[in-house]
Amino acid sequence: MSDKIKILKDKKAQAKLGGGQKRIDSQHGKKKLTARERVEYLLDDGSFEEIGMLVEHRTSDFGMDKEKYPGDGVITGYGTINGRLVYIFAQDFTVFGGSLSETHAEKICKVMDMALRVGAPMIGLNDSGGARIQEGVRSLGGYADIFYKNVQSSGVIPQISAIMGPCAGGAVYSPAMTDFTMMVENTSYMFVTGPNVVKTVTNETVTAEELGGASTHSTKSGVAHTTSANDVECLEDVKKLLSYLPQNNSELPENYPFELGDELRPNLDEIIPESSTKPYDMKEVIHEIIDEDSFFEIHKDFAENIVVGFARLGGRSIGIIANNPMFLAGCLDVDSSIKAARFTRFCDAFNIPLLVLEDVPGFLPGTDQEWNGIIVHGAKLLYALSEATVPKVTVITRKAYGGAYDVMNSKHIGADMNFAWPTAEIAVMGAKGASEIIFKKEIAEADDHEAKLAEKEKEYAELFATPYEAAKRGFIDEVILPQNTRRKLIKAFAMLEGKVVEGPKRKHGNIPL
Ligand code: COA
Repeated sequence: MSDKIKILKDKKAQAKLGGGQKRIDSQHGKKKLTARERVEYLLDDGSFEEIGMLVEHRTSDFGMDKEKYPGDGVITGYGTINGRLVYIFAQDFTVFGGSLSETHAEKICKVMDMALRVGAPMIGLNDSGGARIQEGVRSLGGYADIFYKNVQSSGVIPQISAIMGPCAGGAVYSPAMTDFTMMVENTSYMFVTGPNVVKTVTNETVTAEELGGASTHSTKSGVAHTTSANDVECLEDVKKLLSYLPQNNSELPENYPFELGDELRPNLDEIIPESSTKPYDMKEVIHEIIDEDSFFEIHKDFAENIVVGFARLGGRSIGIIANNPMFLAGCLDVDSSIKAARFTRFCDAFNIPLLVLEDVPGFLPGTDQEWNGIIVHGAKLLYALSEATVPKVTVITRKAYGGAYDVMNSKHIGADMNFAWPTAEIAVMGAKGASEIIFKKEIAEADDHEAKLAEKEKEYAELFATPYEAAKRGFIDEVILPQNTRRKLIKAFAMLEGKVVEGPKRKHGNIPL
């Protein structure tokens, strides 16, 4: 028996060495952890159980039958993060560059199936040279199997992708269909075609980092939801993100213990500048309102005119969507609409209540926006917020103008509680623009056009640049002192906990894509 036990131990030891010490050293030389080190770091101590450690590829072409590594370039299994079950795969770059073979894909599919059946998050740590070139279409089939399972799991279990090395070609489409793509700065990149192909086809000269590095995808394309300085920080972010999420779409996120005190935040009474055109940082408002240090921002450096992220409020996990007047005056544009719409749909799918903080002068004007389809993209946010059935609460801090007023979680599209600060301006448009249109004749006929315009502007502002017309009609449930906002919100979300909405029966809606 001892011989047989030794054989097993040797096989396991070989599997743990992946592609061998030389390639492990090379991985470390690139400031990257190995797949096994990543799994060990991410999961609770001793919780990892590996599945398929001895799987090998079945290819004999190109002399591959002589080159086999147990595990075949991906580590798969399950474990816990802060005591909660998760399923995981981690591609091992030391084995054929982490490339995806038929068996490599089968291993990933096996844990994806289990995650979906059991109802627990699926985490993928990507570090791969793409399709295993020696396997041709078998490898492409493997990708498609994964993509299909990504779609089946979408909205049922949270799916998180960390990109910790190359991710190119078809490989990018699995992360793209998961809920979050988290990239490591300088050591990861994602693109559909690499710099060489780009040079051949478009004659552009670009580095891999410029084309698809973490900074590109976190600022320009929005493909990356978060970026981290290194592997360890990225894995810490995965843990933090998970803490706001439920295990699956039939559970609620965990509530942290909380006791209601006075919850007053007097700083909020001072935060809106005297002049309505002066910006202030909506993130300061967020930090005043939420539980201390609980904000986890998504898409931090992309479309900064809208802020989205998870937070805790009175111990409860919430999703926040907030216009930020610091960028483009807080206007809605193509990128910010897409960003907020996708975040809304994630929160709604996973029972995370939504808080909307509103200071929006309208949609960003211009040919660039119109030609890039702001009509359709803005409609995404309108659709997503209208469709969401989780508890939805809005606070209008200052501007709520035009169509953007409707879009930003207005009462009319199903928001449950709509608060406004006394500084709120709720109207069709700003006082100056409005006066120029409706009092055009009077202003033109006046001896002093400027004085007349100023007089009419004041008149309009006094009537409409306030929350009171909306409050009179019940479009605003309560005009509140800014300092009471945190308390009001904690109570509102607690009150809404049992909310149930049954929509009409249909296959699925047709969100304007
Ligand atoms: N299929 C099979 N083996 C692959 C592979 C793939 N797609 N990608 C990388 N490898 C192997 C390499 O042959 C090498 O093997 P070795 O350790 O036995 O020498 C090992 O993985 C590491 O690759 P290497 O090229 O030395 O690493 P690198 O860090 O210099 O470059 C890549 C990484 C991903 C840029 C480079 O390997 C690459 O361009 N791979 C092909 C990408 C591709 O076109 N994929 C198919 C389309 S989806």
